[in-house]
Amino acid sequence: MPKVKIVTFGCQANELDSARIAGTLLAEGYAVTEDEAEADVILLNGCSIREKAEQKLYSRLGSLQGLKAERPGLRLGVAGCLGQRAGEQLLRRFPGLDLVVGNGEHLTEIPRLLAGRGPGVAVSEPVGLFDGAVVRDSRFRAWVGIMEGCDHFCAFCVVPFTRGRERSRRPEDILGEVRDLQARGYREITLLGQTVNGYGKKLVPPVTFAALLRLIDAEVAGRMRVRFTTSHPVDVTPELAEALASLPCVCEHIHLPVQSGSSRTLLRMARGYDRTDYLSRISLLRGALPDLAITTDLIAGFPGETDAEFEETLSLLREVRFDACFAFKFSARSGTPAAELPDQVSEEVKADRLQRLLTLQTAISLEKNRALVGGRMEVLVDRGLSKRDSGLGAGRTRQNRIVHFRGEATEGSLTMVDITEANSHHLKGVLIPSP
Ligand code: SAH
Ligand code: SF4
Ligand code: F3S
Repeated sequence: MPKVKIVTFGCQANELDSARIAGTLLAEGYAVTEDEAEADVILLNGCSIREKAEQKLYSRLGSLQGLKAERPGLRLGVAGCLGQRAGEQLLRRFPGLDLVVGNGEHLTEIPRLLAGRGPGVAVSEPVGLFDGAVVRDSRFRAWVGIMEGCDHFCAFCVVPFTRGRERSRRPEDILGEVRDLQARGYREITLLGQTVNGYGKKLVPPVTFAALLRLIDAEVAGRMRVRFTTSHPVDVTPELAEALASLPCVCEHIHLPVQSGSSRTLLRMARGYDRTDYLSRISLLRGALPDLAITTDLIAGFPGETDAEFEETLSLLREVRFDACFAFKFSARSGTPAAELPDQVSEEVKADRLQRLLTLQTAISLEKNRALVGGRMEVLVDRGLSKRDSGLGAGRTRQNRIVHFRGEATEGSLTMVDITEANSHHLKGVLIPSP
């Protein structure tokens, strides 16, 4: 049985794709291994979102080519967004490479390409939906893909080029998968899409994301937690706010990337909303569900971003008081409109702005986390502890906060924790033994 090692570089969508690649290969008689030394095939599932992500894969591939010189039978492949974007030219740049595949239906072509003799390539624009077995690492937490691709074409982003046009799975297929996960004992699912709350617009008849949430909530009936990511501000509707407020299985957390607090920057980014629109979406959500945790993504130093525009992002952070944020320096990606814009911001200014965003958000996160000390929260245990273990267990609250706790608990169980301490990135607590 040939053994394959899969290395994931990207976001949750890439993690799910790695589980799809594993499922596809297992069905074809391969075994999956973590151990590079015993692997016959090593597949790098790559990300292209920022230059750094690509560099990471290239340096790993460089050292694997060295390994291949010692083990000529070893086969090397690149998949995912980087495979889709870089395509066939990767074979010239890395002569040790045996295959390059992109996203979507191309994942299912991996066994056929591995069986072939020469190097294999499958990188035409993905148009299909993956429809095979998914073999996940975790036995209690699962990513569930509900749509693929993106039609937004934000000026900075490669995703519409790497994942193709937006397309949604049918509700009955999603519900079938959810039912199966539940039967196998999963405790939490995260519905995935690039703009997950824009789900279902192209289905016939159309289905809203809120309607899908209602169907899933009825299906899991209190036995699983339901999360979703990533949401786009333009698709935050009163119907969604109402669903979040009323459906018991749906966790009180939304990841709602804003990217910038300046309407002028947002216009250049082609995000489709301005500062006022974004703030009104936040009011709508908080009006329906006051304790909703809201997290965001920010880009520091988008082309043309002036000091005054950057200050507006700082002021938005103070106004919204996000629970957490991910901030990145703008990375110019060839082929996207932002890479061609005038007034690119210098590395020094980008680094300085990034630091200022992180410092401000760290202070806000700390204040918000401290306000939770003294409370009691439901935690899904990621790292369990037996009696003999020293150290702390770890898990996540419904609002997606990380909790480190003392006390005995099994991995994958839902338990209650009393919160005793807080810092900016996580909470600490003591587990309440179940009655
Ligand atoms: N679909 C999601 C975002 C997916 S990419 C959305 O629309 O919100 C994840 C994050 O990476 C983005 O939110 C953005 O903050 C960041 N990002 C994307 N392209 C980038 C680039 N060229 N440079 C820096 N950050 C980028
Ligand atoms: Fe990229 Fe914009 Fe689509 Fe998000 S909505 S994946 S940032 S193009
Ligand atoms: Fe994800 Fe990276 Fe692709 S962030 S969608 S793996 S470019």
